Amino acid sequence: MQQNTNHTTKNLPSLRKVLVIGNGGRENALAWAIRKCPGIEEVTVTPGNGGTEDLKGCNRLNIPTTKHLDLIDYCLNNKIDLIVVGPEAPLAEGIADTLREHGLVVFGPGANGAKLEASKKWSKSLMKEAGIPTANHWNAQNKKEALEILERIKLPLVVKADGLAAGKGVTVPNSIDETVIAIKESFEGKFGSAGNQIVLEEKLEGPEVSIFALSDGNNFILLPPAQDHKRLKEGDLGPNTGGMGAYSPTLLISQKDLDEISDLVIKPTLEALNNKNIDYRGVIYAGLMLTSQGPKVIEFNCRFGDPECQALMPLMGPEFAQLLFACALGSISMAPTLSVSKNCSACVVAAASGYPEDPRKGDLIKIFLEENSSLRVFQAGTELDSQGNLLTNGGRVLSVVGEGENFDKAFKRVYAGIKQIDFPGINYRKDIGHQVRKS
Ligand code: AMP
Ligand code: GLY
Repeated sequence: MQQNTNHTTKNLPSLRKVLVIGNGGRENALAWAIRKCPGIEEVTVTPGNGGTEDLKGCNRLNIPTTKHLDLIDYCLNNKIDLIVVGPEAPLAEGIADTLREHGLVVFGPGANGAKLEASKKWSKSLMKEAGIPTANHWNAQNKKEALEILERIKLPLVVKADGLAAGKGVTVPNSIDETVIAIKESFEGKFGSAGNQIVLEEKLEGPEVSIFALSDGNNFILLPPAQDHKRLKEGDLGPNTGGMGAYSPTLLISQKDLDEISDLVIKPTLEALNNKNIDYRGVIYAGLMLTSQGPKVIEFNCRFGDPECQALMPLMGPEFAQLLFACALGSISMAPTLSVSKNCSACVVAAASGYPEDPRKGDLIKIFLEENSSLRVFQAGTELDSQGNLLTNGGRVLSVVGEGENFDKAFKRVYAGIKQIDFPGINYRKDIGHQVRKS
């Protein structure tokens, strides 16, 4: 397994029409980056959001991600060359399998590969089999078993619902009592059936980085590493969120570290998937914690991170769409070498009041920001009403993304830009990128 260094596009079929599935900021950022590829005539996002049609050359379609048959009809009737699936839930439900069964070309793993994210138990057991550095863990099928493990280990263990819980299924406790509460809540149905089994995990410490590998099933390439900001409040305080901002490339790891992570984490993961006959064509997103004993995997996801994707996309050259296409076709070597900007990229999320517990919806959004080649808005939780007014429609409403030759310049642009946006209760962290900023 090697990184691609091929410069030719030999045998890559022509890529004209792309469908992106999802409705978040990540999907708008993907559509925007895919549209930069010369030769692409149409990029459609379904179901998209209130900002999708503001992206130059992108359309919006109104088919929900759950309507697999309608999606198939649309793709076949409209000769869609490539489908890129953004979120984890449709992947875990097997949308990529269903589309492939109809001869369509999909970037995104099948349901078997999506288990990397959709079952923490499965993913931990794969890590163990493959010798991938990760926190020690214990599986529990019921409350009694979980409490017995806790009694034996006598440490505040992290509690993880086994299944998908919209990013809310993990509790990182400060005491054994908090672990007990989280165990009880999970088995009492806080996360629905996702919490009927749990993984208890040793609590690790250290900064976190997000690593993205694009895989064609056998080979992969790494994108620049990014850093997310999971907590709601400045100083990395408050509840965990989907992510309040990101930047890339992170300076926390050098190229040498990245090569090591590639050998220690990504290669063995792909080998372990291959050993299970899983043809994984999509993103392997490894969330790592840089501990005093070296990098350890906190979680795997089967898709791009949100908001890391919004920070990454402006760094991608116009070959990005062809690279996704080649991965989806099972042969990364058909793609041209991806050019990656040397700029620093910054992304700050503006959230609705009440996020993450109970975000307020339906507020009017005013955007005065003038986009340019170094600054733009990727909308997420937004919708247009019948008069064309842009309203808040979700927790993370939008993100402002900007680049610069250093992080100070990139964040200065972004924070000046976000001041040009207003909606009642707008909430954003003022310290995104504090790790890499001097001002
Ligand atoms: P996840 O939903 O698996 O991404 O977990 C959410 C967040 O919980 C991670 O980004 C970490 O900040 C934290 N977390 C997860 N597992 C651990 C662990 N074993 N030790 C410490 N923090 C963790
Ligand atoms: N930003 C974290 C995630 O996408 O899971």
